[in-house]
Amino acid sequence: MRVVGTFAEVRHNGRGPVGLVPTMGYLHEGHLSHVHAARQAGDGTVVMSLFVNPLQFGPDEDLARYPRDLDRDRTLAEDAGVDVLFAPELEEMYPTRPNTRVEVGGPATALEARSRPGHFAGMATVVTKLFAGIRPDRAYFGRKDAQQLAVIRRLTADLSFPVEIVGGPIIRHADGLALSSRNVCLSAGDRIAAAGLCRGLMAAADAAEAGERHGPALEALVRAALMAKPGVHVDYVELASADRVERLVELDRPAFLAVAARVGAVRLIDNIHLDPVGNTADGKFVADRGVRLDRASVMDAGGR
Ligand code: PAF
Repeated sequence: MRVVGTFAEVRHNGRGPVGLVPTMGYLHEGHLSHVHAARQAGDGTVVMSLFVNPLQFGPDEDLARYPRDLDRDRTLAEDAGVDVLFAPELEEMYPTRPNTRVEVGGPATALEARSRPGHFAGMATVVTKLFAGIRPDRAYFGRKDAQQLAVIRRLTADLSFPVEIVGGPIIRHADGLALSSRNVCLSAGDRIAAAGLCRGLMAAADAAEAGERHGPALEALVRAALMAKPGVHVDYVELASADRVERLVELDRPAFLAVAARVGAVRLIDNIHLDPVGNTADGKFVADRGVRLDRASVMDAGGR
Protein backbone atom coordinates (compact mmCIF):
# COMPACT_ATOMS: atom_id res chain seq x y z
CA MET A 1 0.00 0.00 0.00
CA ARG A 2 1.25 3.47 -0.86
CA VAL A 3 0.55 6.39 1.42
CA VAL A 4 0.44 9.63 -0.58
CA GLY A 5 -0.43 13.24 0.09
CA THR A 6 -1.26 14.74 -3.31
CA PHE A 7 -3.92 14.23 -5.96
CA ALA A 8 -1.18 13.89 -8.59
CA GLU A 9 0.34 10.92 -6.72
CA VAL A 10 -3.07 9.24 -6.41
CA ARG A 11 -3.66 9.55 -10.17
CA HIS A 12 -0.12 8.36 -10.90
CA ASN A 13 -0.73 5.17 -8.87
CA GLY A 14 -4.19 4.38 -10.29
CA ARG A 15 -4.48 1.31 -12.58
CA GLY A 16 -7.69 -0.07 -14.04
CA PRO A 17 -11.05 1.01 -12.67
CA VAL A 18 -10.43 3.13 -9.60
CA GLY A 19 -12.62 2.60 -6.56
CA LEU A 20 -12.64 5.45 -4.03
CA VAL A 21 -13.55 5.05 -0.36
CA PRO A 22 -13.77 8.57 1.11
CA THR A 23 -13.35 8.70 4.90
CA MET A 24 -12.47 11.07 7.70
CA GLY A 25 -10.34 8.35 9.29
CA TYR A 26 -10.52 6.54 12.62
CA LEU A 27 -11.54 3.54 10.59
CA HIS A 28 -14.05 0.87 11.54
CA GLU A 29 -15.66 -2.12 9.85
CA GLY A 30 -18.11 0.18 8.02
CA HIS A 31 -15.24 1.78 6.11
CA LEU A 32 -13.46 -1.54 5.67
CA SER A 33 -16.62 -3.14 4.21
CA HIS A 34 -16.41 -0.59 1.37
CA VAL A 35 -12.85 -1.74 0.64
CA HIS A 36 -14.08 -5.36 0.43
CA ALA A 37 -16.96 -4.24 -1.82
CA ALA A 38 -14.49 -2.42 -4.11
CA ARG A 39 -12.29 -5.52 -4.33
CA GLN A 40 -15.33 -7.67 -5.11
CA ALA A 41 -16.52 -5.23 -7.77
CA GLY A 42 -13.17 -5.72 -9.50
CA ASP A 43 -11.77 -2.24 -8.97
CA GLY A 44 -8.15 -2.30 -10.18
CA THR A 45 -7.00 0.26 -7.62
CA VAL A 46 -8.71 0.86 -4.31
CA VAL A 47 -8.02 4.37 -3.06
CA MET A 48 -9.02 5.39 0.42
CA SER A 49 -9.01 9.08 1.29
CA LEU A 50 -8.52 10.09 4.87
CA PHE A 51 -9.18 13.73 5.61
CA VAL A 52 -11.07 15.43 8.43
CA ASN A 53 -12.74 18.13 6.39
CA PRO A 54 -13.04 21.36 8.39
CA LEU A 55 -15.54 22.79 5.90
CA GLN A 56 -18.29 20.41 7.00
CA PHE A 57 -18.05 21.23 10.73
CA GLY A 58 -19.93 24.13 12.30
CA PRO A 59 -18.18 26.50 14.73
CA ASP A 60 -19.67 24.73 17.79
CA GLU A 61 -19.12 21.20 16.50
CA ASP A 62 -16.50 18.56 17.28
CA LEU A 63 -13.78 19.27 14.68
CA ALA A 64 -11.04 19.55 17.33
CA ARG A 65 -12.26 16.44 19.19
CA TYR A 66 -12.82 14.29 16.09
CA PRO A 67 -10.72 11.11 16.63
CA ARG A 68 -7.52 10.89 14.58
CA ASP A 69 -4.86 8.16 14.48
CA LEU A 70 -2.97 7.83 11.21
CA ASP A 71 -0.79 4.87 12.30
CA ARG A 72 -3.84 2.86 13.37
CA ASP A 73 -5.68 3.73 10.13
CA ARG A 74 -2.66 2.89 7.98
CA THR A 75 -2.50 -0.65 9.44
CA LEU A 76 -6.24 -1.24 9.14
CA ALA A 77 -6.35 0.08 5.57
CA GLU A 78 -3.39 -2.03 4.48
CA ASP A 79 -4.82 -5.20 6.11
CA ALA A 80 -8.15 -4.60 4.36
CA GLY A 81 -6.50 -4.36 0.93
CA VAL A 82 -6.31 -0.63 0.19
CA ASP A 83 -3.80 0.09 -2.59
CA VAL A 84 -3.42 3.83 -2.14
CA LEU A 85 -4.07 5.72 1.07
CA PHE A 86 -4.54 9.40 0.30
CA ALA A 87 -3.92 11.36 3.50
CA PRO A 88 -3.55 14.98 2.37
CA GLU A 89 -2.53 17.94 4.49
CA LEU A 90 -4.94 20.84 4.70
CA GLU A 91 -2.80 22.74 2.14
CA GLU A 92 -3.34 20.08 -0.54
CA MET A 93 -7.10 20.12 -0.13
CA TYR A 94 -7.44 23.86 0.36
CA PRO A 95 -4.30 25.62 -0.93
CA THR A 96 -6.11 28.91 -0.56
CA ARG A 97 -9.22 29.79 1.41
CA PRO A 98 -11.86 28.49 -1.00
CA ASN A 99 -14.19 31.00 -2.63
CA THR A 100 -16.25 28.17 -4.09
CA ARG A 101 -18.81 26.05 -2.29
CA VAL A 102 -20.95 23.31 -3.78
CA GLU A 103 -24.50 23.97 -2.60
CA VAL A 104 -26.92 21.09 -3.19
CA GLY A 105 -30.62 21.89 -2.86
CA GLY A 106 -33.42 19.33 -2.48
CA PRO A 107 -32.20 16.45 -0.29
CA ALA A 108 -29.63 18.69 1.39
CA THR A 109 -32.28 20.97 2.90
CA ALA A 110 -34.00 18.66 5.42
CA LEU A 111 -33.10 16.70 8.60
CA GLU A 112 -29.37 17.25 9.28
CA ALA A 113 -29.44 20.60 7.45
CA ARG A 114 -31.76 22.04 10.10
CA SER A 115 -29.33 21.22 12.92
CA ARG A 116 -26.07 21.59 11.01
CA PRO A 117 -26.31 24.62 8.71
CA GLY A 118 -23.48 24.59 6.15
CA HIS A 119 -22.65 20.93 6.77
CA PHE A 120 -23.81 19.60 3.41
CA ALA A 121 -22.17 22.42 1.44
CA GLY A 122 -18.86 21.60 3.17
CA MET A 123 -19.31 17.88 2.58
CA ALA A 124 -20.39 18.34 -1.06
CA THR A 125 -17.43 20.64 -1.70
CA VAL A 126 -14.85 18.14 -0.45
CA VAL A 127 -16.53 15.21 -2.25
CA THR A 128 -16.52 17.26 -5.45
CA LYS A 129 -12.81 17.94 -4.97
CA LEU A 130 -12.15 14.22 -4.41
CA PHE A 131 -14.08 13.30 -7.55
CA ALA A 132 -12.33 16.00 -9.61
CA GLY A 133 -8.85 15.28 -8.25
CA ILE A 134 -8.96 11.46 -8.21
CA ARG A 135 -11.45 10.75 -11.03
CA PRO A 136 -12.72 7.47 -9.58
CA ASP A 137 -14.91 5.06 -11.55
CA ARG A 138 -16.81 4.03 -8.42
CA ALA A 139 -17.16 5.69 -5.01
CA TYR A 140 -18.40 3.98 -1.85
CA PHE A 141 -20.44 5.58 0.94
CA GLY A 142 -22.28 4.11 3.93
CA ARG A 143 -26.04 3.95 4.25
CA LYS A 144 -25.70 5.08 7.87
CA ASP A 145 -25.38 8.58 6.46
CA ALA A 146 -28.55 8.07 4.43
CA GLN A 147 -29.11 11.74 3.74
CA GLN A 148 -25.46 12.26 2.79
CA LEU A 149 -25.80 9.40 0.31
CA ALA A 150 -28.91 10.99 -1.23
CA VAL A 151 -27.10 14.35 -1.46
CA ILE A 152 -24.06 12.75 -3.11
CA ARG A 153 -26.25 10.93 -5.65
CA ARG A 154 -27.95 14.23 -6.51
CA LEU A 155 -24.62 16.08 -6.73
CA THR A 156 -23.15 13.38 -8.98
CA ALA A 157 -26.13 13.51 -11.34
CA ASP A 158 -26.35 17.31 -11.37
CA LEU A 159 -22.64 17.81 -12.08
CA SER A 160 -22.41 14.82 -14.48
CA PHE A 161 -19.53 13.16 -12.67
CA PRO A 162 -18.77 9.88 -14.48
CA VAL A 163 -18.68 7.92 -11.23
CA GLU A 164 -20.95 5.16 -9.98
CA ILE A 165 -22.08 5.77 -6.38
CA VAL A 166 -22.28 2.59 -4.33
CA GLY A 167 -24.12 2.55 -0.99
CA GLY A 168 -22.85 0.08 1.60
CA PRO A 169 -24.83 -1.44 4.49
CA ILE A 170 -24.86 -0.08 8.03
CA ILE A 171 -22.47 -2.15 10.12
CA ARG A 172 -23.46 -2.48 13.79
CA HIS A 173 -21.81 -3.55 17.00
CA ALA A 174 -23.22 -6.80 18.44
CA ASP A 175 -25.64 -4.77 20.62
CA GLY A 176 -26.90 -2.91 17.56
CA LEU A 177 -25.14 0.46 17.92
CA ALA A 178 -24.19 1.62 14.42
CA LEU A 179 -20.45 1.90 13.94
CA SER A 180 -19.24 5.47 13.87
CA SER A 181 -15.79 6.92 14.49
CA ARG A 182 -17.44 9.18 17.06
CA ASN A 183 -18.38 6.14 19.21
CA VAL A 184 -14.89 6.18 20.76
CA CYS A 185 -15.84 9.50 22.39
CA LEU A 186 -18.76 7.89 24.29
CA SER A 187 -18.32 7.20 28.00
CA ALA A 188 -19.11 3.66 29.19
CA GLY A 189 -22.54 4.78 30.45
CA ASP A 190 -23.35 6.74 27.31
CA ARG A 191 -22.28 3.77 25.21
CA ILE A 192 -25.05 1.66 26.84
CA ALA A 193 -27.63 4.45 26.42
CA ALA A 194 -26.62 4.88 22.76
CA ALA A 195 -27.75 1.34 21.91
CA GLY A 196 -31.31 2.66 22.48
CA LEU A 197 -31.19 4.33 19.03
CA CYS A 198 -30.92 0.95 17.37
CA ARG A 199 -33.49 -0.66 19.68
CA GLY A 200 -36.07 1.96 18.71
CA LEU A 201 -35.30 1.57 15.01
CA MET A 202 -35.60 -2.22 15.23
CA ALA A 203 -39.02 -1.89 16.89
CA ALA A 204 -40.07 0.38 14.03
CA ALA A 205 -38.62 -2.07 11.47
CA ASP A 206 -40.75 -4.87 12.95
CA ALA A 207 -43.84 -2.64 12.92
CA ALA A 208 -43.29 -1.54 9.29
CA GLU A 209 -42.85 -5.14 8.18
CA ALA A 210 -46.05 -6.04 10.08
CA GLY A 211 -47.93 -3.39 8.06
CA GLU A 212 -47.62 -0.10 9.99
CA ARG A 213 -47.57 2.68 7.35
CA HIS A 214 -48.16 5.77 9.45
CA GLY A 215 -44.94 7.81 9.67
CA PRO A 216 -45.70 9.39 13.08
CA ALA A 217 -46.50 5.94 14.55
CA LEU A 218 -43.14 4.59 13.35
CA GLU A 219 -41.37 7.68 14.65
CA ALA A 220 -43.09 7.29 18.04
CA LEU A 221 -41.61 3.80 18.46
CA VAL A 222 -38.10 5.23 18.16
CA ARG A 223 -38.85 8.10 20.53
CA ALA A 224 -40.32 5.65 23.06
CA ALA A 225 -37.06 3.67 23.18
CA LEU A 226 -35.11 6.84 23.95
CA MET A 227 -37.54 8.42 26.38
CA ALA A 228 -36.21 8.87 29.90
CA LYS A 229 -32.75 7.63 28.94
CA PRO A 230 -30.37 9.77 31.01
CA GLY A 231 -28.00 11.83 28.87
CA VAL A 232 -29.92 11.23 25.61
CA HIS A 233 -31.37 14.28 23.85
CA VAL A 234 -33.29 13.50 20.69
CA ASP A 235 -32.76 16.01 17.89
CA TYR A 236 -35.17 14.46 15.38
CA VAL A 237 -36.87 11.23 14.42
CA GLU A 238 -38.31 11.39 10.92
CA LEU A 239 -39.55 9.18 8.12
CA ALA A 240 -38.25 10.56 4.82
CA SER A 241 -38.28 9.49 1.19
CA ALA A 242 -35.02 7.80 0.20
CA ASP A 243 -34.15 9.91 -2.83
CA ARG A 244 -35.64 13.38 -2.21
CA VAL A 245 -35.43 13.25 1.59
CA GLU A 246 -38.92 14.69 1.99
CA ARG A 247 -40.97 14.01 5.11
CA LEU A 248 -43.47 11.16 4.66
CA VAL A 249 -46.64 10.92 6.71
CA GLU A 250 -47.44 7.65 4.96
CA LEU A 251 -44.90 4.97 4.09
CA ASP A 252 -45.75 4.53 0.40
CA ARG A 253 -42.35 4.55 -1.37
CA PRO A 254 -38.69 3.71 -0.64
CA ALA A 255 -37.88 5.56 2.57
CA PHE A 256 -35.65 5.73 5.57
CA LEU A 257 -36.54 6.30 9.18
CA ALA A 258 -33.81 8.49 10.62
CA VAL A 259 -32.88 9.41 14.17
CA ALA A 260 -30.36 11.96 15.43
CA ALA A 261 -29.60 12.33 19.13
CA ARG A 262 -26.96 13.75 21.38
CA VAL A 263 -25.73 11.11 23.81
CA GLY A 264 -23.53 12.75 26.42
CA ALA A 265 -21.23 14.99 24.38
CA VAL A 266 -21.55 12.99 21.16
CA ARG A 267 -24.07 13.54 18.36
CA LEU A 268 -25.11 10.25 16.77
CA ILE A 269 -27.27 9.42 13.75
CA ASP A 270 -28.77 6.13 12.64
CA ASN A 271 -31.53 4.86 10.37
CA ILE A 272 -33.26 1.91 8.80
CA HIS A 273 -34.17 1.79 5.13
CA LEU A 274 -37.68 0.61 4.25
CA ASP A 275 -38.14 -0.73 0.75
CA PRO A 276 -41.32 -1.89 -0.95
CA VAL A 277 -41.49 -5.59 -1.74
CA GLY A 278 -42.65 -6.15 -5.31
CA ASN A 279 -45.64 -3.98 -6.17
CA THR A 280 -45.97 -0.99 -3.78
CA ALA A 281 -49.77 -1.32 -4.11
CA ASP A 282 -49.47 -4.60 -2.15
CA GLY A 283 -48.29 -2.43 0.71
CA LYS A 284 -45.53 -4.74 1.93
CA PHE A 285 -42.22 -3.25 3.03
CA VAL A 286 -38.97 -4.85 4.08
CA ALA A 287 -36.57 -3.18 6.49
CA ASP A 288 -32.81 -3.09 5.99
CA ARG A 289 -31.57 -3.46 9.56
CA GLY A 290 -27.88 -3.43 8.64
CA VAL A 291 -25.28 -6.04 9.53
CA ARG A 292 -24.33 -6.91 13.12
CA LEU A 293 -20.79 -7.90 13.97
CA ASP A 294 -20.54 -11.27 15.72
CA ARG A 295 -17.21 -10.28 17.26
CA ALA A 296 -15.60 -7.25 18.88
CA SER A 297 -15.08 -4.32 16.54
CA VAL A 298 -11.71 -2.80 15.70
CA MET A 299 -13.20 0.16 17.58
CA ASP A 300 -13.12 -1.88 20.80
CA ALA A 301 -9.83 -2.30 22.61
CA GLY A 302 -8.34 -5.61 21.49
CA GLY A 303 -10.89 -5.91 18.69
CA ARG A 304 -8.40 -6.47 15.88
O1 PAF B 1 -18.90 10.42 5.61
C1 PAF B 1 -17.80 10.97 5.80
O2 PAF B 1 -16.90 10.42 6.46
C2 PAF B 1 -17.54 12.35 5.23
O3 PAF B 1 -18.69 13.12 5.26
C3 PAF B 1 -16.93 12.31 3.82
C4 PAF B 1 -17.92 11.74 2.80
C5 PAF B 1 -15.64 11.51 3.81
C6 PAF B 1 -16.61 13.74 3.36
O4 PAF B 1 -15.72 14.37 4.23
